[in-house]
Amino acid sequence: MNSRIYTVAILGVGSRGGNGYGRIINTMSEQFKIVSLCDIRRERLDMFAPEFNVPAENCFDTDEEFLRERRADLLIIATQDKDHVRHCLRAFELGYDVLMEKPITADKDECLMLLEAQKKYGNRALVCHVLRYSKPYMKVMELIDEGKIGRLVAIDALEPVKYWHQAHSYVRGNWRRTGESTPMILAKCCHDLDLLQYYAKSRCESVSSVGDLTFFNQDNAPEGCATRCTECKYADTCEYSAKDIYVNGWHRKNTPEDDWPFNIIASAPITEEKLWEAIKNGPYGRCVFHCDNDAVDHQMVQMTFKNGVKASLLMTAFNDKMGRCYRFYGTHGMIILANECVTLREFGKDDVEFSSKELLESGHAHGGGDFGLISSLYAMLTGAAPESTSLEASVESHLMGIAAEESRLHGGALIKIH
Ligand SMILES: NC(=O)c1ccc[n+]([C@@H]2O[C@H](COP(=O)([O-])OP(=O)(O)OC[C@H]3O[C@@H](n4cnc5c(N)ncnc54)[C@H](O)[C@@H]3O)[C@@H](O)[C@H]2O)c1
Repeated sequence: MNSRIYTVAILGVGSRGGNGYGRIINTMSEQFKIVSLCDIRRERLDMFAPEFNVPAENCFDTDEEFLRERRADLLIIATQDKDHVRHCLRAFELGYDVLMEKPITADKDECLMLLEAQKKYGNRALVCHVLRYSKPYMKVMELIDEGKIGRLVAIDALEPVKYWHQAHSYVRGNWRRTGESTPMILAKCCHDLDLLQYYAKSRCESVSSVGDLTFFNQDNAPEGCATRCTECKYADTCEYSAKDIYVNGWHRKNTPEDDWPFNIIASAPITEEKLWEAIKNGPYGRCVFHCDNDAVDHQMVQMTFKNGVKASLLMTAFNDKMGRCYRFYGTHGMIILANECVTLREFGKDDVEFSSKELLESGHAHGGGDFGLISSLYAMLTGAAPESTSLEASVESHLMGIAAEESRLHGGALIKIH
């Protein structure tokens, strides 16, 4: 183990790369130093270069120039889904260790090619499955490992996407078209698939899946609605109204200067004027019933693991306020994880509750997971701990998601993975 300071370059200084990991890393001056940035949006470089103290000559507008040579020990890849493999392959070639955003890719061959390249060049790589590093999810594993519920038999997982998040990302936004980004089951649920294989402690043998886009299409448009919210008679009554999600929503959050999802549609410092401009003219002001989306709004996956554990996952876009909810069924008890709180129910005994209040109050995203991930990243680099969400482990869960999408497109057919 050593205590050296690792230099960091960030490719894609957006919501995750800049506001998320960049800002966390920037507070850890005894472990990391950010030395280079690349983003095709000049305003992101202008915002983060002074904040992270990166000189102008180390900021790049194009990935081509940035990836010409190695610029740090570690590269954070936080560009959009379709670029991850291309960026990661080049990073391996250049000799970087890598922290890569999920999803890796929706293509099985690309997953395997990346693993091959990693083996060839010998890089270390962590994929951002942040929930594994969040306190409630870690507590569940601890209870399973302590044998509190006996032998784990089945897991029932629910990923309820909030209605406005669905509208923002999967109807109007970057993940609305499967062919141009990634199928919903990978884009939104690769964390769930990763957690399920992690808790099952086994590779997934087979999956079947069904799901559709059932609501966000023209058939469900209210009578006489406009194609843009700013021109629509339902602008003040429709729950999917861009005015409510972005303008009223920004006021409900006390007008933050730079916060998701507002910073996706307007540059920081955010103003009401910028938000109105974005919804009047940009893609995020389109009626949710008149977009060019094809991402599903609900999907179910059934999984059998090689050790016999079974799991089911439901992703639904029709939700407000609820967070992920997982139930773990064992031969001597069950564990319920809901709203970041863990309940242990050993058969014949009183429930024991574990609250994650403390960690959630620390202010870091994903129940402390983003912060936990960066701490583990340092442990991986120094050799103090093995990588938990390694590229290899993440590829396993991506194979589950790729098979689930194949099954969905074939009417729920059973797809063998291993
Ligand atoms: N781990 C998680 O829980 C989690 C959560 C949300 C998003 N994500 C993933 O993180 C990634 C980034 O998402 P985001 O929400 O930060 O998006 P974002 O749009 O805010 O950030 C992406 C940034 O990359 C830049 N960029 C795009 N193409 C580029 C290129 N070729 N070269 C250089 N810069 C480029 C964009 O200008 C933008 O600033 C996505 O793959 C997304 O799926 C992960």
